[in-house]
Amino acid sequence: MRYKVAVVLGTRPEIIKMSPVIRELRRRKINYFVIHTGQHYSENMDTLFFKELDIAKPKYNLGAGGLPFNKQIGFMVNGIEKIFRKEVPYVCIVQGDTVSVIAGALAAKKLDIVVVHHEAGLRSHDITMPEEINRIITDHISELLCFPTKDALKNLQEEQFNPMLYRNTGNTVVDAVNQNLEIAKRKKAGLLESLKLEYKKYFLTTFHRAENVDKKERLKGIIDGLSKVADKHRDRMIVLPLHPRTKKKIKEFKLKMHKNIKIINPVGYLEFLILEEGAELILSDSGGIQEEASILKVPCVTLRDNTERPETLSAGMNVLAGTNPILIAKCAEQMLRKKIVWKNVFGYGKAAVKIIDAIEALMKKRRNVFAIFRWLFLSLRRNIVNIFSRR
Ligand code: UD1
Ligand code: UDP
Repeated sequence: MRYKVAVVLGTRPEIIKMSPVIRELRRRKINYFVIHTGQHYSENMDTLFFKELDIAKPKYNLGAGGLPFNKQIGFMVNGIEKIFRKEVPYVCIVQGDTVSVIAGALAAKKLDIVVVHHEAGLRSHDITMPEEINRIITDHISELLCFPTKDALKNLQEEQFNPMLYRNTGNTVVDAVNQNLEIAKRKKAGLLESLKLEYKKYFLTTFHRAENVDKKERLKGIIDGLSKVADKHRDRMIVLPLHPRTKKKIKEFKLKMHKNIKIINPVGYLEFLILEEGAELILSDSGGIQEEASILKVPCVTLRDNTERPETLSAGMNVLAGTNPILIAKCAEQMLRKKIVWKNVFGYGKAAVKIIDAIEALMKKRRNVFAIFRWLFLSLRRNIVNIFSRR
């Protein structure tokens, strides 16, 4: 292929979900490069994932981590634009809904580079969330919308996107789980034992969303809810790999944790897959973890008032608890008792192949359109030359 592809990413979930796409670009020998905005930068939120997922260190790293939002987005757009001017890619792929995603899409759009949005069409219908704003704007400036589920398609239809723009690709979260679960089981076999956990006899929790952890009452609500769950199940540990944003806020608000909540540092993807698969129940406000819980067939309680993954709710694999402690405890009991019929709502693990197929088809179409215009131009010129030469 002659066209060049830019992959822009910046956070832990983007590295994970983009890894199957990067591997597929590499397999097809497509000319690509990766820009890391540096939004996530700690070893265990960033570098570790490139090593584990067998993808090369990005060609560029902007080092935008830790800046306040207004400075961060300007810094990223500026940095990405400079690189685009130098590299001149034809296509830019972004995934999800973070600041890095919107920055990549804006910089590409400005230079007339084709924006491809993986995980298009997700909507929480809560416009106060920065992620909702990012995904709506990114969808509206993309030329190829790779949507993962029927609910995402419905959102795109309701917003009257041109059907020529979107493709059903599934979500690379399934590819990533399929590609890494067996590796994780092999390489991290002793993990549960080393954490003194027993398979299916512990709960796993994570929370980091700004709307949850930046507000003391909501963060306290989650911690109190988890304490109620811990009190009810004294024979179960609740493992909490603590996100750096949450760590900072727990310290700032001086919040205390129940003794059965086991705090650990964020772990790599392979270890996290083992922790998820071995858990009896997951309680989280993460987007990606709601998806992985359903793929790994672990009941999930979502610590939010809404979700952009409603298919997990309607399939009965997930429930919304918000941050009210009583509701969190009630939802945990409900999901522990429930007989769940597991459904495959995020596709079958060929999303990366479908995304690159869709890009290749778009490039072919563009080349065809270009060829038609060239033919028209040349034949028009020939006719004009003929007319004048006859005179
Ligand atoms: C971001 C995304 C969120 C996504 C999450 C994935 C936005 C608006 N938010 O939230 O949608 O779900 O990533 O985890 O883009 N920090 C570190 N080391 C790191 C990363 C962060 O110490 O490697 C600390 C810094 O103090 C930083 C804070 O965490 O200021 C918040 O990081 P930031 O990237 O702004 O937001 P996240 O909460 O990670
Ligand atoms: N994850 C991980 N280590 C951890 C916690 C999460 O590897 O300690 C992975 C998890 O498997 C999922 C992704 O990180 O693929 C989710 O990231 P996060 O919750 O930070 O972001 P979100 O999906 O909410 O945007």
